[in-house]
Amino acid sequence: MPAQMQIESVPLADALGAEVHGIDLSVPLSGETVAAIRQTWLDHQVLVFRNQHLTDAQLTDFSRHFGDLDTVPGWEPFSPSGHPEVLIISNVRKDGATIGVLGDGEASWHTDMSYLDQPPPGSLLYSLEVPDTGGDTCFMSMYAALDALPTDIREAIRGKSLNHDSSHDSAGNLRSNHTAFEDVSGAPGAQHPIVRAHPETGRPALFLGRRLHAWIVGESVESSEALLDRIWEHCTRQEFTYCHQWQRGDLLMWDNRCTMHRRDPFDAQARRVMHRTQLKGDAPVRAAASA
Ligand code: SIN
Repeated sequence: MPAQMQIESVPLADALGAEVHGIDLSVPLSGETVAAIRQTWLDHQVLVFRNQHLTDAQLTDFSRHFGDLDTVPGWEPFSPSGHPEVLIISNVRKDGATIGVLGDGEASWHTDMSYLDQPPPGSLLYSLEVPDTGGDTCFMSMYAALDALPTDIREAIRGKSLNHDSSHDSAGNLRSNHTAFEDVSGAPGAQHPIVRAHPETGRPALFLGRRLHAWIVGESVESSEALLDRIWEHCTRQEFTYCHQWQRGDLLMWDNRCTMHRRDPFDAQARRVMHRTQLKGDAPVRAAASA
């Protein structure tokens, strides 16, 4: 019998984030409970559930309430056995090889896999082992950043698309199957509207992907760089963000359609083990107000 649970949520910052209380994610949930979680997610963009005890099967069962799950080519060596939809994010090494991706370094602001034609709408991250300090994950509300964007920048990006480079990861490293380039206007990847409409809330949000190697389609590289520098300087203001200090047993779910995130580095000798799922993608749609 699926469990009906009373949800209580407490906002974590002005722009985004809420901690949800009263939920055990390891058990089957009723349709009403899932609907309440979905609405809270849409309202707050990032949800935090503390003190969870999840197997990989329970993590994928919970994640599937919000859509089909991705199994990304290349994840195979970094997925727990029998769970191809789970990606291990970790610096831990076993028998000389790393068990997960991203290591212990900083991951710069990004939206997950925005360089795909159909990027994942949401991601879920569950912590199994966390360092005493460092490794915090910060989130940015792209609704709030757009709402406060100076009018001249809004006008400058009206109707424009951004090229999202696929050749570098969020730590800035060139991916193994790509070649280096000088001219960002030739970067491989996907082109998406800079201002997208959230398909469920209808709200417009900035959609930036990553700063490095981005290019505003149709602009000279020089003017694209100048405009992107202004946009990023505006977005990265603290008032648009929430930073999460992890505890073991935290499950976070974030909405890639209206947020970005980054991760702090941490001590290479410490262990950090996280299991992540992501929802199957949909193509971003331009917001009418920016057409
Ligand atoms: C990610 O960027 O998906 C991972 C963030 C983290 O390791 O906290």
